[in-house]
Amino acid sequence: MKKSWWQLHILAFCMLGLGSKLVGEAFQPEFAEPISNLTIPVGRDATFRCLVQNLGGYRVGWVKADTKAIQAIHVHVITNNHRVGVSHNGQSVWNLHIRNVQEEDRGQYMCQINTDPMKSQMGFLEVVIPPDFIAEETSGDVMVPEGGTAKISCRARGIPQPKVMWRREDGSDIVLRDSHGSKTKVQMYSEEVLTLTKISRSDMGAYLCIASNGVPPSISKRLQIKVHFHPVIQVPNQLVGAPIGTDVTLECYVESSPKSINYWVRDSNEMVISSSKYEVVNTMISSFESRMVLTVRKLTLADVGGYRCVAKNSLGEVDSVIRLYEIPGQTVKNTSPPKLKDDYKYSTPMEGPDNQFGSADRPDDEDERETEDLPLQTSIVSKYDNITKNRTLFVSNNASGQKISNKIRKIIDNFNVEEFRVNKANKSNHLALTTTIYYSFAQICISIKYSLLLVFY
Ligand SMILES: *[C@@H]1O[C@H](CO)[C@@H](O)[C@H](O)[C@H]1NC(C)=O
Ligand SMILES: *[C@@H]1O[C@H](CO)[C@@H](O)[C@H](O)[C@H]1NC(C)=O
Ligand SMILES: *[C@@H]1O[C@H](CO)[C@@H](O)[C@H](O)[C@H]1NC(C)=O
Ligand SMILES: *[C@@H]1O[C@H](CO)[C@@H](O)[C@H](O)[C@H]1NC(C)=O
Ligand SMILES: *[C@@H]1O[C@H](CO)[C@@H](O)[C@H](O)[C@H]1NC(C)=O
Repeated sequence: MKKSWWQLHILAFCMLGLGSKLVGEAFQPEFAEPISNLTIPVGRDATFRCLVQNLGGYRVGWVKADTKAIQAIHVHVITNNHRVGVSHNGQSVWNLHIRNVQEEDRGQYMCQINTDPMKSQMGFLEVVIPPDFIAEETSGDVMVPEGGTAKISCRARGIPQPKVMWRREDGSDIVLRDSHGSKTKVQMYSEEVLTLTKISRSDMGAYLCIASNGVPPSISKRLQIKVHFHPVIQVPNQLVGAPIGTDVTLECYVESSPKSINYWVRDSNEMVISSSKYEVVNTMISSFESRMVLTVRKLTLADVGGYRCVAKNSLGEVDSVIRLYEIPGQTVKNTSPPKLKDDYKYSTPMEGPDNQFGSADRPDDEDERETEDLPLQTSIVSKYDNITKNRTLFVSNNASGQKISNKIRKIIDNFNVEEFRVNKANKSNHLALTTTIYYSFAQICISIKYSLLLVFY
């Protein structure tokens, strides 16, 4: 401290010496206004401006207050920091320039006039640094089994200390579950560590960590949470009838992560592959849902029987059987498949217990969606219509993966119920009555299967 004061006195003394011939003039110099404080991002240039009136023969000098290091006197740079420079405009505007500002430049800068006693005023240089992720403390992609816990962290440095927040890339809510199972949905989560307990497949997707501290640019990091689970198959129609000579389509919906290998197998255990007889199409509907479609062309008696759709991933394997039977006695006029599905109205979503299968936390999700999604119903169904007709690849938009999942269920429910009604209407026809029994049986089977699914979850 003493030493510093001593240095200051030396400076004052030097300046007095330089201006000695004019000491004693009538007007004493004054500062015209305070020095502005500066906030400068690292790497940019800073300029302090000192406005002086009536300088006369006195001199203006610059000192860094914390280190007492003399920066400049009059037009001469004293410090050996070559990033420092001075300029002036006449006798009243005196500038101190610091190029390519560095963290060590932070501090008070004093503009002095070598009067006796000397006059001075100060301005503060704040050096700010935009955010930067601390790689070692920021997570990458994670994989978690369904029901497990994903803990992702994101830390950033910068000056001032950056704030970090999490959000989902597709804009859907982050679902936080506590140990009692109650859920909170948030658009943004503003902690460094995001812990997702009892994770569900609907939590799967890309998450963004965004760090900002008011110094541009803000930065973001994207990471994937993959939720793994045993594959599940849902089959809209487990009994499919068609007249000989027509093309007939069988379909299965698969949910699986990691992505499953999907294929069809006949009763005889032979694998069904695309050929002139069969067309096999797998379509991804979302990151974890896909649709398997098998078209049997020009049905013959040899084609009648069971077809198994199989989905296999690293966590396991699942299959489901579809029975293909002949509807006898119908003349073959056109070769299009029996347009069972396309003719139905999907506008009335099915309510009731049939809807409630799937993972444990789904039913209440569905309840919430029921109202808000209804207008979407027709458009989503139309998309499926178009797939059925065209078989083009349809990739769902990111946000609606889970919604579609629910739609599929509704569509599936409708298929079952509508077919049941159709066949009821034809009770007079003995054949159809048999079919009705088949379908009732299928209904019971499906119900049992869904109950099992419920129990399973
Ligand atoms: C600069 O900041 C200091 C506090 O660090 C404050 O007292 C002073 O009034 C500020 N100067 C100006 C011109 O705003
Ligand atoms: C079905 O696809 C056709 C063209 O592929 C398109 O013009 C039509 O709008 C689609 N239908 C619906 C309901 O999206
Ligand atoms: C079927 O899909 C193809 C390829 O996407 C497209 O060019 C064609 O217009 C579609 N046809 C119909 C009838 O939608
Ligand atoms: C889905 O996400 C990808 C990037 O993750 C993005 O490029 C694409 O536009 C998104 N699709 C939709 C339909 O939002
Ligand atoms: C009932 O059966 C008759 C022929 O037996 C058929 O023309 C009609 O389309 C069937 N009705 C329905 C709703 O399938």
